[in-house]
Amino acid sequence: MTLPALDKIPYGGDYNPEQWGDAVWDEDYRAFDLARIDLLTVGVFTWSLTQPDEDTYDLSTLERILDRAHADGRKVCLATGTAAVPPWLAHRYPEVCRTDFEGRRHVFGVRHNACASSPAYRRFSAAVAARIAERFAGHPAVVAWHVNNEYGGQCYCDLCAAEFRLWLRDRHGSLDRLNEAWNTDFWSHRFTDWEQIVPPNMLSEHWRGPNHTAFQGITLDYLRFNTDNILRSFREEKDAIRAYSDLPVTTNMMAIYRHLDYHRWAPHLDFVSWDNYPTDGSPVSRMALSHALMRGLKDGQPFWLMEQTPTMTATRNYNPVKRPGQMRLWSWQAVAHGSDSVLFFQMRHSRGASEKYHGAVLNHAGRTDTRAFAEVAALGAELEKVGDRLLGGRTPARVALLFDWDSWWALEMSDGYSRAVGYEAQLVSYYEALWQAGALVDVVAATADLSGYDVVFAPFLHMLKGDAASRLEDVARRGGTVVTTVMSGRVDENDNAFLMDVPGPLGALCGVRVDETDSLPPDQPNEVALLLPGEPELRVSAHHVFDLVIPQGAEPVGFYTTDFYDGTPAVTRHEVGEGSAWYVGSVLDQEGVDWVVRHALAERGCLGAFADVRDLEHTSRVVDGRRYEFLLNHGADAVQVRAPWDGVDLLTGRAVAAGASLPVPGTGVVVVETSSGAAS
Ligand code: GLA
Ligand code: ZN
Repeated sequence: MTLPALDKIPYGGDYNPEQWGDAVWDEDYRAFDLARIDLLTVGVFTWSLTQPDEDTYDLSTLERILDRAHADGRKVCLATGTAAVPPWLAHRYPEVCRTDFEGRRHVFGVRHNACASSPAYRRFSAAVAARIAERFAGHPAVVAWHVNNEYGGQCYCDLCAAEFRLWLRDRHGSLDRLNEAWNTDFWSHRFTDWEQIVPPNMLSEHWRGPNHTAFQGITLDYLRFNTDNILRSFREEKDAIRAYSDLPVTTNMMAIYRHLDYHRWAPHLDFVSWDNYPTDGSPVSRMALSHALMRGLKDGQPFWLMEQTPTMTATRNYNPVKRPGQMRLWSWQAVAHGSDSVLFFQMRHSRGASEKYHGAVLNHAGRTDTRAFAEVAALGAELEKVGDRLLGGRTPARVALLFDWDSWWALEMSDGYSRAVGYEAQLVSYYEALWQAGALVDVVAATADLSGYDVVFAPFLHMLKGDAASRLEDVARRGGTVVTTVMSGRVDENDNAFLMDVPGPLGALCGVRVDETDSLPPDQPNEVALLLPGEPELRVSAHHVFDLVIPQGAEPVGFYTTDFYDGTPAVTRHEVGEGSAWYVGSVLDQEGVDWVVRHALAERGCLGAFADVRDLEHTSRVVDGRRYEFLLNHGADAVQVRAPWDGVDLLTGRAVAAGASLPVPGTGVVVVETSSGAAS
């Protein structure tokens, strides 16, 4: 099962017409015509409408919405609507409400508020999904199913405690094995009965917050359990749909979202979709990383951009509108990285409550002469022109970046070495370097098959699971390059340290051992002098954690320049088989990360064609032997590059000639359909 079968990139998004009267619907559809909006995501928060009480279902409003969409030639991604429990459910079955990290049982309110262990929630959510699927499976407008919405959070109630114990029995098999995995002879924690185990929260193992736990093993298992437990709820709704419909099922994810390990979800989704709301001030490359992470969930299969705001968000303290051209550029960026859709939240401003000021295609007045609407309509016309050409396009990447939720959790919840080292920030920093260098990168799980990659980055791979070390070693042996860093190879899958030199099983590959690791406050950097034969020395700053590296066959290419370890190796390169492995023993500043990343890419000819043009993003997609090149200029000023390919610019229809100058306007996009074939 894969993506919905459509003949162009679907364009549209969340549409909640149940919030306003039919007269307004006519106005909505006139606007959809103007903007070429052809896909509506319907029913995302409709549970209290579709099921007004325990024994009554009322699908008439949904039916009118779907019939109208069909009459006007629109396709629908139909939601089950279960992400906000209706008041009657919380009132009648208080167990559906979550208990928070502080141990407080919540009462009815907000959304994303259900306990995934609650039998009542599981029963009623699957039942309403079944009703909706039964009624609308054959509806001609429906092309895909949208289960729930942005699953997330966690619960610490007694029902979850019981489910956790069952999950632990399944994972560890016996209490002896659990005691070993959690190293419970530390602080008198040996469990002799499953019932003694309680969820790790502020009332039990934690102090100061979710990252401060006395027992990493139990907290880590609770994060895994929570991922699986919420996933079970998704699967129950999906199964309920499957009984009536073969259409593809998804749920909208949040990409770099810490609470759920999406790699555990991926096999259960027919296709991946996600919501792109970049956090204020984050680099553009973080969005690219997010897209690549989502594409990587299902082996490079295209995904859907399920939501993005056409203009502004409403949840932040300040909510800047997207600048002219930015919405278009970011939409094309999603497509450039593998999205087969461009969808918004939301089609129209809601009338009241917390999203009444959230950006929308149509404002409260329903105007179609606003700047925002004009930009939406212009992009709609462009997507219509492109038609089905890009659908199904694959990204021919030779570079991989490993992304591992277990390492994220384990690194950030460990006491020592430093609380200042954040996994996300470090992954973003390495990806930023790759992005600026123009490398085409797949972002994959630490358990992924690496045999197709020439360069593999494994930064901050704190936890080494299974055969990760030998798979990385294979990359180097057959002539590839591996890059790993400080804080990698530290613990096994239970968060217990390896009884060997740091970096554990990565030591042989990297040809190093670490004698000790210093950790200093953020305002006390060291300096690293980076030096390769025949090149000028580059001095960069290093922060937070400092491995004192003792080469065991590796060549030092960077040295600390201050403190008692002045002159000690900080960065090394090791020849392994036909290839090499780099070890970066500290958190380098961006310039330092750029230096390492560019050298590693250059070793295998993986620097992008436009590596020297700042903020010019370049990606490729291949469809049926045709290759498309995307150039996205995230800078304000136009740039001129020399085109490496012959072809035609899909958006302007202009010919592109290899060797000729190709202008990319500031905040502009060029999509070249190359005529030289996929091999170019
Ligand atoms: C999320 C939700 C939407 C909406 C938007 C607002 O992505 O899925 O329902 O609340 O945020 O930004
Ligand atoms: Zn619970």
